[in-house]
Amino acid sequence: MILVMTAEAPVRPQVVAHRGASYENAEHTLGAYVAALDAGAEGLECDVRLTADGHLVCVHDRDLRRTAGRRDAISTLDLADLERLDVASWKNPWADLDDEAPIRDESLDRVLTLRKLLETAADYHRRVELAIETKHPTRYGGLVEKRLVETLRDFGWHREGTPVRVMSFSLTALSRVDQMAPEVPLVMLLDKSAMWPVLRRMIGKDWLVGPGIDLLREEPELARRIHRRGHDIHVWTVNTEEDLRLCLDLGVTAVISDRPALMLHLLDGAPGDEDRAR
Ligand code: G3P
Ligand code: CA
Repeated sequence: MILVMTAEAPVRPQVVAHRGASYENAEHTLGAYVAALDAGAEGLECDVRLTADGHLVCVHDRDLRRTAGRRDAISTLDLADLERLDVASWKNPWADLDDEAPIRDESLDRVLTLRKLLETAADYHRRVELAIETKHPTRYGGLVEKRLVETLRDFGWHREGTPVRVMSFSLTALSRVDQMAPEVPLVMLLDKSAMWPVLRRMIGKDWLVGPGIDLLREEPELARRIHRRGHDIHVWTVNTEEDLRLCLDLGVTAVISDRPALMLHLLDGAPGDEDRAR
């Protein structure tokens, strides 16, 4: 079934690909982001961490155990070390046994720098929004936000009208960005509703708020409380029709999903995952 907007649910949320189209593709790879863009995703979400030699890379976990089978922390390796690793095979470990699989461009399966992701978005034929999450705690503290703002300046994306917003679970991290680049929209991420009474007094009036879908399922009233304070809501990680329906009912303005093609199909009747695979 395709969802329809109703008088009660009048907002058509923006569809943001969480770590790329990461349901079918290895997260945070260029392949996952290109797939998301080609599916029609309006925005791309990524996590960023600093390498030992000061490059921002798109990686979620603190270390490489899950995605490359190594114990090293991202923060202890140089970019050149990271770029040698295959961070995609874990997603589809039997692919080598498929004789009929097309030969894959390995550059799509490597650790991606934030700069490359921004270039990809900038070069795309339509506007692409970017929701960049700085991960904390990290040994580099505020250097992450400093490097992030420097990178945004290189693109002119620290100015009003920027396609970028910065997200974090760390109020301190967002406050740093606010100081350095006051025109960049900020999203205060929320994974516990108990934090809201504290955070609502501390965040900027124009900040967005990003609760997890689990919180909203358990406590939909939280969305009304956030809206009452005048904040728009971006929700992660919305992967099913049921959760998308809840988001529509609650009037959220962006859904961050591992399955952007499915979300677009449900919202707009765009070709779905299965249709595109034919
Ligand atoms: O978009 C926010 C969401 O990505 C936060 O959780 O763990 O997926 O980074 P996580
Ligand atoms: Ca994230």
